[in-house]
Amino acid sequence: MTTPATLILTRPDDWHVHLRDGEGMRDVVADTVRQFARAIVMPNLKPPVATVAQAEAYRERILAALPKGSDFTPLMTLYLTEATLPLEIERARRTGWIHAVKYYPAGATTHSEAGVRDLAHCRETLKAMEDLGLPLLIHGEVTDAAVDVFDRERVFIERHLIPLVQRYPRLKVVLEHITTASAVKFVLTAEDNVAATVTPHHLLYNRNALFQGGVRPHYYCLPVLKREEHRQALVRAVASGNPKFFLGTDSAPHARNTKENACGCAGIYSAHAALELYAEAFEAAGALDRLEGFASHFGADFYGLPRNTSRVTLVRESWTVPAGHPFGQDTLVPLRAGEQVAWRLQALN
Ligand code: NCD
Ligand code: ZN
Repeated sequence: MTTPATLILTRPDDWHVHLRDGEGMRDVVADTVRQFARAIVMPNLKPPVATVAQAEAYRERILAALPKGSDFTPLMTLYLTEATLPLEIERARRTGWIHAVKYYPAGATTHSEAGVRDLAHCRETLKAMEDLGLPLLIHGEVTDAAVDVFDRERVFIERHLIPLVQRYPRLKVVLEHITTASAVKFVLTAEDNVAATVTPHHLLYNRNALFQGGVRPHYYCLPVLKREEHRQALVRAVASGNPKFFLGTDSAPHARNTKENACGCAGIYSAHAALELYAEAFEAAGALDRLEGFASHFGADFYGLPRNTSRVTLVRESWTVPAGHPFGQDTLVPLRAGEQVAWRLQALN
């Protein structure tokens, strides 16, 4: 198949992004807005966005940080804690602008300390979500220090996820930023109310990227990059056109000095070139014709939202990613900094 010089797609949405807060937010939200019509905004702020009132205030701050004239819609989430009551779920459902609840196993990743230690403490709340059709978005890694960091997703599926979907068979579940063949298999064998998001970095890189010529903190995220065979399983899943797999960048900005550090933060920033990077991955798989479903249709369908009607154009034209990107008072290092990206998103007019 020859590669077309341009691709016209329904405008995509990002079903998993970290916009942060305060000054830095303005710098990163502009990238997300340039790429996407809507985005599911992660609630892992400090303190976490755990109530409808906190989500409302955060939503207002995001709207105030948008570039002038933007029609971007932030889709808000609540951070599940062991204190989240079914009443808060009912309130969230009634807002019409809270679209999911995020489950972080306590200690699994950045700002997850307030997360859940034992899902058995959330039974009534999960039941309310199942009854009201509010999706549970899962960071699927065990926090057990005895489990090898590269096995934590697989073990989470075995220990926690399989029992969870058995107990709540109608609960809408998104296994976020999947990284392994085990996750692909789990999602494929589950019912249609179980789906997954896939990041550009897990489609393009394997764990060698972390150690190429020395330790590379800007390739460190959670769940961590895995072996090549797992990357290939993810590519096959998205290239198959199965609607259970859709776009979620997990773009996670961190200031440069917090990553280039003796104890560097987890998170890769990809919002500056997200759709272009996905296009590279789909092109390499010979599956550019499957990009639109993945990027622009399947997520909206899963969340029960209308598909976007406007379009974007990708041109097969390489460009160099800047070495740094402003982030409030700081700078962050975007994915592919100083390197080429093969596709370019044309500005919306
Ligand atoms: C995310 C962050 O920085 O907030 N980091 C990451 O490595 N993905 C948290 C998360 O989604 O795990
Ligand atoms: Zn994330």
